[in-house]
Amino acid sequence: MQTRLYQITPQDAGALHEVGALLRGGGLAGIPTETVYGLAANALDGAAVANIFRAKGRPQDNPLIVHISAFSQLYPLVRAVPMQAVALARAYWPGPLTIILPKSPAIPDEVSAGLDTVAVRMPSHPLARAIIHAAGVPLAAPSANLSGSPSPTTVRHVLDDMGGRIDAVVDGGPCAVGVESTVVTLAAGRPRLLRPGGVTLGQLRAVLGTVEVDHAVEEQLAAGEKASSPGMKYRHYAPKAHVVILRGPFDRYAEYVNAHAGEGVAALCYEGEEAALRARAIPCGSRNDPASQARRLFDTLRALDALGVNTAYARCPEKAGVGLAVYNRLLRAAAFEIIDV
Ligand code: TXA
Ligand code: MG
Repeated sequence: MQTRLYQITPQDAGALHEVGALLRGGGLAGIPTETVYGLAANALDGAAVANIFRAKGRPQDNPLIVHISAFSQLYPLVRAVPMQAVALARAYWPGPLTIILPKSPAIPDEVSAGLDTVAVRMPSHPLARAIIHAAGVPLAAPSANLSGSPSPTTVRHVLDDMGGRIDAVVDGGPCAVGVESTVVTLAAGRPRLLRPGGVTLGQLRAVLGTVEVDHAVEEQLAAGEKASSPGMKYRHYAPKAHVVILRGPFDRYAEYVNAHAGEGVAALCYEGEEAALRARAIPCGSRNDPASQARRLFDTLRALDALGVNTAYARCPEKAGVGLAVYNRLLRAAAFEIIDV
């Protein structure tokens, strides 16, 4: 299959009509969002959604997020819209927030992977919104990477993983947030954070009051434990290189890295720290700016493999604000391996 690359703006009505018709008719397209690129299909077409799982090599039990471009599109997808969902949507939609609610019969089993809930989000990227609007149906879309590898934040990443496996991909430039949306469930009694992302825990609490944090956000699930968010149980976001997080102040980090420097060893550090490091230094954002770390994270993880790195020692992100999402993703890329230095 030849993957058609679209380089368009939200004003290109003809091309948008084409991509919309492709999606409505059961095709697969890589689309930009403000978080990461998504691999979209008509969310109401079970057979089209099944093709997403095939193209990604995604485990069948991992449900997908449904993307909408107008709030009214939420009603047919869920059993009821509680006040808390209205309040969250008013504050953070369109934007990097996914809300889980009990699903309506309109949601095919392929989307919900057998759960009785559905995850919904309204992205803010102008092209994402224009594509959903042109399709005229809600779009199911996981991140557009091969299952297990780092999520794509540029059209190049999507083509590297999905070229030849999907009908089309739309270039929307590099993603502004760089990590996936925050996932919060309103279907389990009290609101609970299942995956940290662009909307912070503080921002959720400002609207909802109490929000519990699922323990899988910061900890590895015990063997056999059931995940509240199935995606959190897989090894994830992982380059081929062995990633180890070093937790401690910079001078101890540098000491450890310098003692272990050698062929194939890299230091995943922050900008401005390179000079003190004797291993190949690969900066990922700046230390006091977690948003810059989020924006750079997946591209940096992908670069490790391109540079032939075998072992990367990463600085341990601060968990405040968007930093919690950076920490959560890096922890999985490192298969939970942290060394205190
Ligand atoms: O920013 C994003 O959310 C991106 C862009 C493309 O919108 N999408 C994304 O999708 O990250 P994906 O499939 O890579 O991650 C979806 C996560 C998974 O961890 C999945 O298990 C969880 O959301 N999820 C989806 N539906 C769920 C449900 N009904 N209950 C619990 N978790 C759910
Ligand atoms: Mg993903």
